[in-house]
Amino acid sequence: MADNQKYHGQKHHGWDAVWINVRLATMAEENYGIIQQGAVGIKNGRIAWVGAAERLPGKPEQLANEVHDAQSAWLTPGLIDCHTHLVYAGNRAEEFALRLQGASYAEIAAAGGGILSTVRATRAASEEELLAVSAKRLQSFLGEGVTTIEIKSGYGLDMESEMKMLRVARKLGELYPVSVRTTFLGAHSVPPEYKDDADGYVALVCRKMIPAIAAEKLADAVDGFCEGIAFSPQQIESIFEAAKQHKLAVKLHAGQLSDLGSAELAARYKALSADHLEYTSEAGIQAMAKAGTVAVLLPGAFYMLRETQKPPVDLLRKYRVPIALASDSNPGTSPAASLLLMLNMGCMLFGLTPEEALAGVTRYAAQALGMEAQVGTLGEGKTADMALWDIAHPQDLAYNIGYNPCIGVIRQGIYRAV
Ligand code: NIG
Ligand code: FE
Repeated sequence: MADNQKYHGQKHHGWDAVWINVRLATMAEENYGIIQQGAVGIKNGRIAWVGAAERLPGKPEQLANEVHDAQSAWLTPGLIDCHTHLVYAGNRAEEFALRLQGASYAEIAAAGGGILSTVRATRAASEEELLAVSAKRLQSFLGEGVTTIEIKSGYGLDMESEMKMLRVARKLGELYPVSVRTTFLGAHSVPPEYKDDADGYVALVCRKMIPAIAAEKLADAVDGFCEGIAFSPQQIESIFEAAKQHKLAVKLHAGQLSDLGSAELAARYKALSADHLEYTSEAGIQAMAKAGTVAVLLPGAFYMLRETQKPPVDLLRKYRVPIALASDSNPGTSPAASLLLMLNMGCMLFGLTPEEALAGVTRYAAQALGMEAQVGTLGEGKTADMALWDIAHPQDLAYNIGYNPCIGVIRQGIYRAV
């Protein structure tokens, strides 16, 4: 265990803190960006210096107010979960049991269960209740070195409840040491009030919800579920048009259950990411590559749905589409509160390398959120969001199952043991 000693030296270089005796996986270069005997200087919540300790521009105690000795622990960028539905009420364990008996996700949805059952529970919950249940899940991620998390709405499906979800998500970012990016997912499912009028609901999303949510700055991006059981490519297109008018970035649940050309659609709108992608053609992947759209792979949902069609990882590599990996934490298809588990699943189920898996929750997860200038790698000028690990090598993070080697987190320069 790293027992961090602090010295109070004189302020010469003016750093607030410096970490020494630390092994770095910067994720900024090949081979994890490993620097075996590294050091990191921090000032005003940002990384002021990073490199080999022997190149430090002075003695640690002269460079910074606080010297932290990591005792050879590993330091990585703070982990980033770039796709979650963390805020919801209720649970779907009964649906899980039904699926174990052979019912399909689509059948359950068609019978009014699935997403709509979580909508009922989420609408009924007060803002305080929603905050309390979501905070419990969030804390599990925070203990694993997660410093940035994306949270989608999409279990409200009316103006008031969608805004409630987004306010709860924002509030989590105020109450806990984590950067929260919020995504408006009004187009998750057609709500019961619009059962036979999906276009009417899409019009509400475009004309009322997106403008109001943009005006209150409640969302950083807009997402949709493009699928036979949800919204058509044409309907998603009108939602993306509305998002564009309000200068909101877009993302898409694309090709999870069938190929409707949604990767191509996401690329056409220069989406930050297209997510899931099990059912995606080579043309879809090429379009993503051209548009700079990140592929977000979600092995938790693949696993829970007992999906057998894998996302086209070889094509993603061939066309150099950045691959991110996320938990998809949600009550239906991925009741997960662990991002580390997704590293193992990404390797075992999709054939990612341990390095691709770690890059998928750091560097490329940042890109999937449009945050690559601030977080995702260890580099000068980046936010000092980092995780400290008791491991022998960064590949251990993907190797272990159900074991959390995180021993500390540095969030905007401030250290806390976990
Ligand atoms: O990412 N695909 C749609 N949305 C979620 C599932 C939501 C739910 O079942 O509650 C997903 O898998
Ligand atoms: Fe999702």
